Amino acid sequence: MLKILNVVGARPNFMKVAPLVDAMKRREHEFTPLVVHTGQHYDVMMSDAFFKDLELPKPDLYLSVGSGSHAAQTAAVMQRFEPVVLEAQPDWVLVVGDVNSTLACALVCVKLGVKVAHVEAGLRSRDRSMPEEINRLLTDQISDLLFTPSQDADENLRAEGIPDERIRFVGNIMIDSLNKLLERAKDSQVRQQLGVADSDYAVLTLHRPSNVDERETLARILGALETIAERLPIIFPVHPRTRKAILELGLERQLQAGRGLRVIEPLGYLDFLRLYSGARLVLTDSGGIQEETTVLGIPCVTLRENTERPITVEMGTNTVVGTDPQRITTAAFAALDQSSRRSYRVPPLWDGHTADRILDSLL
Ligand code: UD1
Repeated sequence: MLKILNVVGARPNFMKVAPLVDAMKRREHEFTPLVVHTGQHYDVMMSDAFFKDLELPKPDLYLSVGSGSHAAQTAAVMQRFEPVVLEAQPDWVLVVGDVNSTLACALVCVKLGVKVAHVEAGLRSRDRSMPEEINRLLTDQISDLLFTPSQDADENLRAEGIPDERIRFVGNIMIDSLNKLLERAKDSQVRQQLGVADSDYAVLTLHRPSNVDERETLARILGALETIAERLPIIFPVHPRTRKAILELGLERQLQAGRGLRVIEPLGYLDFLRLYSGARLVLTDSGGIQEETTVLGIPCVTLRENTERPITVEMGTNTVVGTDPQRITTAAFAALDQSSRRSYRVPPLWDGHTADRILDSLL
C-alpha cells in the first residue's frame, strides 16, 4: 500500500490531480491518497467550484498561503508544507504543472529526502522571463520521477542531462478530466444564460503577466480583440489578475466601448468546458487551453510569442501569434474564414488513461 500526498495550489492544478485521486480511490488496495491544498488560489470561482465540478474530495489539509510576491508565496508554501510532509511520511509526493506551489513543494521534498514525482514534466517554452518556465526547469531537475505528456518533453529532459530511468511518457493527465466530464458538461446552461448559439461566438482567456501587467501591451491586445469582436461576439471570463490590471491601468472604457467583447466572471470547469467546446474560435494565453482545444478540434489562437506545448501546433489546432494586433486579427480571421476546419490529430496517449499509467509506474 502506497501513501501518496497529492499537492494542489492553483486553478490549473485541479483538473490534473482529480483523475489521479479518483484512480487511487478506485485502486484502494494499492493506494492511500491525501490531498494538500496550498491555498495559492482561494476565490470560490478559482478553487472551490473546481473541487465540486471535478468531484475532487475536500483537501485533507489547507495551507492558506494566499497571494504574494513570488518569493513570499514560494517561501510560505515551503514553510507550511514541510511539517505536513514530516507528519504524513508519504511514500510519494505528487506535484503537477508549473505554478509556484509545484516548485515549492518539490523543493521541500528533495531536502527532506522524500520521493517526489512531477506530473506534466519536460515542457519548455525556452522563455526564462516566464515564471512558469523557471518552475518547470527546477522542478524537473529535483524530482525523482518525471511523467511527461508528449515525447518532445522526453527529449527536452534528456537534453538537460536527465537519465532515461527518471522519465516516463504517460500522456496528458488533463485529458482524463476532459474525457470524463465532456458529456456531463452538456447539462450546463451557460450558453443559454449568455444568449450565444453553437459555433457563433469566440472565447477568450488572458492572464499572463507579460500580457496583462503593462498598459501598452494590454491595450494593444484589447484593440485587436475589439476588431475581431465586430465580426463575432467574444466571451471573456476574466481572471482576477486581469480584472485588477484592467482597473489599475484604466482600461475599463476600452472594454465597454467594444460591445462585442463581453467580460464575465471566471467560470467553473463544467461551464467553461461547455462554453469553449461549442466555440467557433478560442483566443488564449493559457497553456492548458491550447491542449484542450487540440483534443476537441477547436481552432485556437495563442496570444504569446512561444509555447511550451509545440505538439498542439504540430498536430493540433493551435496557432501561436504573439501580441502584435495585426498578427492576432489575421490569424483569427483566417481561422473564421476556413470553410472546413483545419485537420488535426490527437497526440499519442492523450486518451483519458494517463492516471492509471502513472499509478502503475509508481508501483
Ligand atoms: C498562477 C500561476 C500561473 C497559472 C495561473 C492560472 C504561478 C507563478 N502562476 O498565476 O502559472 O497559469 O495561476 O490561474 O504560479 N487572485 C485572486 N484570487 C485568487 C487567486 C489570485 O484575486 O483566488 C489575484 C491576486 O490579486 C493575485 C493575482 O490574482 O495577486 C495573481 O495570483 P497568483 O497565484 O500569484 O498568479 P496567477 O496570475 O493566478
